[in-house]
Amino acid sequence: MTVRSVIAGVGSALPRRRVDNAELAKRVDTSDEWIVARTGIRARHIAEPDETTASLATDAARRALSDAGMDASEIHLIVLATATPDQTFPSSATKVQASLGIADCVAFDVHAVCTGFLYALTVADSMLRAGSGRTALVIGSETFSRILDWEDRTTCVLFGDGAGALVLRSEDGERGILATQLHADGRHNDLLFVDGGPSTTGTVGKLRMKGREVFRHAVVNLAEVLGEVLGAAGLTSDDVDWVVPHQANARILEATARKLGLPPEKVIVTVDNHANTSAASVPLALDVAVKDGRIKRGDVVVLEAMGGGFTWGAAALRY
Ligand code: UT7
Repeated sequence: MTVRSVIAGVGSALPRRRVDNAELAKRVDTSDEWIVARTGIRARHIAEPDETTASLATDAARRALSDAGMDASEIHLIVLATATPDQTFPSSATKVQASLGIADCVAFDVHAVCTGFLYALTVADSMLRAGSGRTALVIGSETFSRILDWEDRTTCVLFGDGAGALVLRSEDGERGILATQLHADGRHNDLLFVDGGPSTTGTVGKLRMKGREVFRHAVVNLAEVLGEVLGAAGLTSDDVDWVVPHQANARILEATARKLGLPPEKVIVTVDNHANTSAASVPLALDVAVKDGRIKRGDVVVLEAMGGGFTWGAAALRY
């Protein structure tokens, strides 16, 4: 038998306020038709002042723990992926730890923007398999609405807020994470970035993106990394029951699936309702597809994401 990190529970949380394209069109020069045709997005959730990255992460974590039938006190490790922490420090992971009432565990944030959840999952899986604990909360949580330039129609219509969480537990058996693959290429820092930060401007800054170039890289990188992770897991695309991609643009999801010869009905799509929630998008989509009964125990699931840096990555698992 092989010890693997098994997904024991999933959960997610969305801000109370849902904003549709028509509402955005009152604010910037855009239209529901343009946004739907170019991105597939119809609505997104936007955090109210009392809803933060850590509070959404805590709600998602509570739901994942309840789904796993576990108490927070059983958690040894919290890895939280975010590019929009509540504060520069402490890590939002320690805020989640405090809210869950966990007296002692390892807790830290991982920052790889939209690929953050794949990075966090890889780190947590490696730590569990190395024996640094048996259970982990892996969370992606973001409040990108706070770093959007609400005057820039080329970016503000694309993003939303939310959180998703998994409980991982190391177990002997066939189920669990089979392989992960991560990449980064810092030469593309200037295609997707935030124009502020504690060590430069001393301000938080706003998101800037050259969307068309990001799109082009995304399709190539995602198809490549999906091929790599399947190879590393000893699988082919025929073995895949579900792909849970980062939800940036419906056209990227379709193009990536087409490149791999995967039928579109195997691809979980939530970008229509959530828009791009960066590090939260993969666990949010996973939670939706588990809760609506599509993803079942034993299914082969592939996760993938690409984001600022550039960073990109994928994971193959048997749910
Ligand atoms: O999560 C990290 C990864 N991020 C991504 O994967 C994002 C990747 N990029 C994309 O999803 C797409 O490139 C966008 C959705 C950002 C843009 O779609 P596009 O088909 O590449 O459009 P474009 O940027 O080439 O813009 C086409 C036109 C432009 O007008 P002109 O120059 O042709 O006159 C834009 O000014 O659409 C205009 N435009 C808009 N029009 C109405 C841009 N944004 C809007 C808007 N409403 N919100």
